[in-house]
Amino acid sequence: MGMISRRDLLVGASAGLAAAALHPLLTWAEQQGVYIPGEEGMIVRSARFFDLEMPTEFFDSWITPVPHFFVRNHMHEPSTLDASTWRLTISGEVEKPLTLSLADLEKMPSRSVTNTLECAGNGRGFQQPRVPGIQWQRGAVGTARFTGPRLRGVLERAGVKPTGKHVMFRGLDEVPGKVPPFIRSIPIEKANDDDTLIATHMNGATLSKHHGFPARALVPGWVGAASCKWLSEIKVLEKEFDGNFMKPGYRMPNHPLKPGDPLNVDDSHVITALNVKSVIAAPTDGSAVKSRALHIRGAAWAGEAEITKVEISTDAGATWQPAQLGREQAKYAWRLWSYLWKAPKAGDYTIMSRATDNQGRVQPASAEWNPSGYLYNAIDQVQVRVQG
Ligand code: MTE
Repeated sequence: MGMISRRDLLVGASAGLAAAALHPLLTWAEQQGVYIPGEEGMIVRSARFFDLEMPTEFFDSWITPVPHFFVRNHMHEPSTLDASTWRLTISGEVEKPLTLSLADLEKMPSRSVTNTLECAGNGRGFQQPRVPGIQWQRGAVGTARFTGPRLRGVLERAGVKPTGKHVMFRGLDEVPGKVPPFIRSIPIEKANDDDTLIATHMNGATLSKHHGFPARALVPGWVGAASCKWLSEIKVLEKEFDGNFMKPGYRMPNHPLKPGDPLNVDDSHVITALNVKSVIAAPTDGSAVKSRALHIRGAAWAGEAEITKVEISTDAGATWQPAQLGREQAKYAWRLWSYLWKAPKAGDYTIMSRATDNQGRVQPASAEWNPSGYLYNAIDQVQVRVQG
């Protein structure tokens, strides 16, 4: 079983058992917790299709090492990927359809973008009332340095026609049964952004299989679903793509819903940029600490916006104090933050964190409820027993 910890086994086992009750086909491995090479210490939310969450202990690094970077797969990873025969086609509303090899991509000027990638469903497990889907808590998010040619560079070679308004990506996932393939699109403006890449590298190394080898889209500041892995086809469209993963998938209601209300697809829009959000990495929820001196820390991010402050409350939200933001920053990357606090006496405390960004967005006390629990960003909180 290798390097999986006992805690992960337990978490994996309970998630697996709950899932097995819903899907009798889930495997023994999923119920036991599994060891996935190169993904050490991760919480296995699903092993049928790999869905791996980063435990909060790994929020201690501004750049997330690849083995700790969450994995979100909607279906089976491609079983064979050969860099020498892999091709990327560019077609649709273009003057000159193209087929590129990996060597062609690697000849193009490349750019690096440090981006916090978050799954639209991160935090879904905290949504009240409960909603269906992978019950992610804090860690379907990570920050990495992605490198590769600009998507715009490839589109320029093909020559986008004036009718080309959206750019569609298709991945090489193996589609189980009748599930629709993973195809989504982004608007041409975002596709042409300087920082939107066809990434071939992550943290300086060739992309790993779980993260989209040999090439993936990198759409910075947007929900992870925009960044299609195992990219095989780019097609320029006149209209937004409207397959399953765009409609009804990955949509938010145009007007707030009451818990339990269904989504009206005709009164909804595709999710693009991430919300303002912070999470508390330490102390962990439900922990007991021996010392009254606490080092509270975590991370905060805001998609295309910039974090301007993170505030901490140690009295369940009655009063707030600014946390110190970490030195390391980049346009689309999270800020690590920390706050040193001396508990006045032994006892139980509710610690909260609240982020604000330069668009004036503030993390709300409760998230906007929606039937898929997307973009959950309520003020984070942990309960801590101070014994010292
Ligand atoms: N691309 C393909 N081809 N298939 C997928 O299932 N999942 C998407 C996106 N790209 C997905 C995909 C989702 S929902 C997310 S959050 C990110 O990949 C996760 O990227 P990661 O697994 O590298 O963390």
